[in-house]
Amino acid sequence: MVETSDEWITERTGIKERRIAAPEETAAFMGAAAARQALEAAGLEPEQIDTVICATTSSEYSFPSSACEIARMLNIKRAMAFDLAAACAGFSYAYSVAHAMIMAGQAQHVLIVGSDLLSRACDPADRTTIILFGDGAGACVLGKSEEQGTLAVYASSDPFSGDLLSLKVPQRGGSPDDAWLYMKGNEVFKRAVTVLAELVTRTLELGGMTADDLDFLVPHQANLRIIAATARKLHLDMSQVIVTLDKQGNTSAASVPLALDEGIRSGRIKRGDVLLLESFGGGFTWGSALVRY
Ligand code: UT7
Repeated sequence: MVETSDEWITERTGIKERRIAAPEETAAFMGAAAARQALEAAGLEPEQIDTVICATTSSEYSFPSSACEIARMLNIKRAMAFDLAAACAGFSYAYSVAHAMIMAGQAQHVLIVGSDLLSRACDPADRTTIILFGDGAGACVLGKSEEQGTLAVYASSDPFSGDLLSLKVPQRGGSPDDAWLYMKGNEVFKRAVTVLAELVTRTLELGGMTADDLDFLVPHQANLRIIAATARKLHLDMSQVIVTLDKQGNTSAASVPLALDEGIRSGRIKRGDVLLLESFGGGFTWGSALVRY
């Protein structure tokens, strides 16, 4: 499709494979598949879920939201359900909101889904984006418990750099070319590395921990060089980092829950492990969670 090579993509990004959704598959459809597995893993029934948050920027409809669609598909009948748009940082934002709702006593079990189909948003002629994004969904359930599972959350934004990474909602009568994802890759790269270094330090401080206390880093999967830089900042060996982007590419809001799922189901992440989840995306937005699993 574009002038590129496997060598360039592997060296600059770490990506080898990506998953592309079938034309009839939507963010809600994929999100529901992930959500079903999360409920099963949590041992919960749909009626026990009182809140559904779907982090996505690729919903089929503005409304009903993907969260409402997911609730319908899972027969979750009486939950507060809404989508949350924070691009690639969406899952971290959703985690932060879910945690706050539980701490405030407003929710008991929050289903958080990250689902995106950004492969469809990339201009097939733009080699700087078309090689990066894959489709996917991941989910988890956050619930009230006696033992503290969430040790710290942090989220923030820089609203003055939105033009470096943007995706316009298609407008009625607008040019279809306006609707492609735009990214000034190397500028985003530099900001991501700097912001993530500060983010992980701050999150550990908030949780009263140091990098030595960490068992795993579960990072957003945008670029292996960005992930490696964050791991270096934390003096972590790459064996303590969950990497899925070689098989999935950048799945935006789905990447952190997909990596978490891979870490847990592969048996690498065990109960009691301390995890640092982090992500950075368009907006710019970024967020993290320090978790005892
Ligand atoms: O998930 C949300 C946050 N997103 C990110 O964090 C993504 C951050 N950015 C990146 O991961 C990297 O910037 C990219 C992978 C997108 C690009 O890597 P880079 O090392 O920053 O490359 P560059 O944009 O500085 O481009 C270097 C060269 C350019 O050619 P010249 O000007 O040096 O001749 C590009 O035209 O590489 C060229 N190039 C390509 N060559 C082959 C750009 N894309 C390609 C390509 N194949 N696909």
